[in-house]
Amino acid sequence: MENPFKYGGIVRGPYFADRRSEIKELNREMTNLNQVFLVSPRRFGKTCLLLNLIETLKRNAIACAYIDLNAFPDIRSFAGVLTGLTAEALETNKDKLLKMFSGFKKLRPKVSVDRDGNVSAGVELAVEEKDALSALLEGMRHAEKLAAKKKKKLVVIIDEFSDLEKYNGQSIEKAIRSEIQKQAHIGYIFSGSEQSVMLAMIRDPKRAFYKLGRIMELGPIERGAYAKFVLGWLKKGGYTVNDDDLKRIFEIGSDVPYNIQRLCNVMWDNAMETKTIKPVLIEKLPVIIAQQDSPHYEMLWRSASQPQKILLIALSQDQTVKPFSKDFQLTHGIGPSSSIKASLDSLVKKGVLFKTLQGGYHFVDGFMPYWIDYIRKTIR
Ligand SMILES: Nc1ncnc2c1ncn2[C@@H]1O[C@H](COP(=O)(O)OP(=O)(O)OP(=O)(O)O)[C@@H](O)[C@H]1O
Ligand SMILES: [Mg+2]
Repeated sequence: MENPFKYGGIVRGPYFADRRSEIKELNREMTNLNQVFLVSPRRFGKTCLLLNLIETLKRNAIACAYIDLNAFPDIRSFAGVLTGLTAEALETNKDKLLKMFSGFKKLRPKVSVDRDGNVSAGVELAVEEKDALSALLEGMRHAEKLAAKKKKKLVVIIDEFSDLEKYNGQSIEKAIRSEIQKQAHIGYIFSGSEQSVMLAMIRDPKRAFYKLGRIMELGPIERGAYAKFVLGWLKKGGYTVNDDDLKRIFEIGSDVPYNIQRLCNVMWDNAMETKTIKPVLIEKLPVIIAQQDSPHYEMLWRSASQPQKILLIALSQDQTVKPFSKDFQLTHGIGPSSSIKASLDSLVKKGVLFKTLQGGYHFVDGFMPYWIDYIRKTIR
């Protein structure tokens, strides 16, 4: 039997744990064509949730377009993909699509023909740089018109939405907002992990997205339901584990879905022969994972400056330390605060740490502290 605990990609079907209430809630919001901002720290499962939600929406005859902003470096490519995907979601007939695309003013279709001579219309639309924003608005208007004509609801999901800032700043935000407010057939989900950026976009009265929609903060998967999911698979695989011992998995993984999947995946493989999961194995799991990912951590470590390493070591021992306190600076012999701030900012930029809404700094990868601990022990 294959390992049922998948990680790193999109989990679907029987491999997707719980999230029932979240799907229900988002389904309701989208049926009402609202705007929702979905926010959580990294690896909490936003993308998995959204892709599973799409299946539910489609079953309810709602058309969906999913766009990961990460993949589109400029407004031109974003305009192209948004127009292409929304049109494709509403119109499946290729010839009609092509005809539609040739009617655009700012967007030109890039038609490609595959080896069998099939014309693939769609996704690729070319735009000139100077026309990028008006092309985007043309695409949004077109989606609304088409949805109205087809008498269908459309849901547009934009993942990694905080990336919008990489475009030309706030003029695009204003333009998008005013377009959205004119629409009556489209619901939106904007999803992002840069919590501070996302919340600033929505909560700052001076910003275009201020109160445009509700904020849904995605928490961890509810422990009870997640434990049931894990136990269900273990039972199917013939494993035995004590319920109380399993609790440790959720503690070690801080309830972060990625961590839990990873821990369970390694647990499954390591207990393959005995099929008995003992507490000593559970305690070993994060160290095994840290060793598996060692090349990645080594690269990060080598690129870190001395003060950055000191900060990482201190945080790996206690994520509640206050790096800006006098106490901390005296103990670790680093400072002043301005250079500590620069080191922390750089670690955040590199994706090693993230800043919590309370102003603390945590590891993006929960297994990295175990690796730091491990190398310090082996060096000694
Ligand atoms: N409901 C779930 N059931 C099982 N595993 C899940 C679930 N949600 C998330 N995961 C696990 O967590 C991993 C990360 O999930 P995902 O990529 O959806 O997170 P994310 O919040 O979009 O992260 P990022 O902010 O980095 O984009 C998945 O590869 C999967 O292993
Ligand atoms: Mg994601």
